[in-house]
Amino acid sequence: MNLDQPQVVLITGASSGIGLACALHLQQRGYTVFGANRHPRENAPFATLGMDVTDEQSVQDGIAAIVSQTGRLDVVVNCAGFSSVGAVEDHSLTEAREQLETNFFGRLCVCRTALPLMRQQRSGHIVNIGSIGGMVGLPFQGVYSAAEFAMTGLTEALRFETRSFGVHVTLIRAGDANTENTIHRHHARAAQQDSVYATHFRTTLNIMEQDERDGIKPDKIARLVEKIITSKSPRGVYTIGPIFEVFAAYARPFVPARFFEWCVRKYYRLG
Ligand SMILES: NC(=O)c1ccc[n+]([C@@H]2O[C@H](COP(=O)([O-])OP(=O)(O)OC[C@H]3O[C@@H](n4cnc5c(N)ncnc54)[C@H](OP(=O)(O)O)[C@@H]3O)[C@@H](O)[C@H]2O)c1
Repeated sequence: MNLDQPQVVLITGASSGIGLACALHLQQRGYTVFGANRHPRENAPFATLGMDVTDEQSVQDGIAAIVSQTGRLDVVVNCAGFSSVGAVEDHSLTEAREQLETNFFGRLCVCRTALPLMRQQRSGHIVNIGSIGGMVGLPFQGVYSAAEFAMTGLTEALRFETRSFGVHVTLIRAGDANTENTIHRHHARAAQQDSVYATHFRTTLNIMEQDERDGIKPDKIARLVEKIITSKSPRGVYTIGPIFEVFAAYARPFVPARFFEWCVRKYYRLG
């Protein structure tokens, strides 16, 4: 990596929330930033691209456009995504596939498209923005958690594979952050109707949304991203979020499973 030139960074999901915070922060710190999402932001202070991560051609075209302008790609912050809520049973298979299509296959597609270039450069860093929901199966976010657990495994494996090519891969497991995620959320159609899970679902959703409002500012995650990509030996995994969530996620392996489950049920008032 030539540290004399500004590094070229692709951030997916850069029109709002965590991705936008990363794009603004890294742009300000002198990186050459390309923000990509389906509906590019007008008047953004960084270069924008239209990209749908569920469409392989659109990902390939976007990365090709960056390379034709800059000749390289140093960092990818893989952030595009959403969360789908509702009981597992209330998600149709189509709704569940949509969640995995974006949060898992979409990010996989971005990794696969960036990797040949990074291997050729013999340098690069992919930072996948994952979730504490990839460490703990969250009630009424089971389908989201499934995508995030998959992302955890994928990132860990990928890191072993790419190291010898000089390419770093890191997962950030984020807890609640105060972003537009809350309004962009998908609701399983059956969960909005006469669901047998309706009472517990509504209670859990209210708690979840309050936690998001009380969540960390996305800028904090942006600063962590900068710390990771400037580190000489970045770790594979970083966890960030409200202190209580980070503590609970780390404590989990050390407390009896029944006790942990009791705490989660109590927290979400699941009876
Ligand atoms: N906020 C949290 O509490 C939290 C916690 C842990 C993890 N996360 C994860 O972090 C990621 C970003 O969340 P956020 O909180 O920043 O949410 P957000 O404010 O809703 O931002 C989501 C971004 O993803 C883009 N996007 C969605 N689908 C896309 C697609 N198919 N192709 C390209 N871009 C797409 C959206 O732009 P367009 O609509 O224009 O495409 C938007 O820029 C998500 O994967 C989320 O699951 C969030």
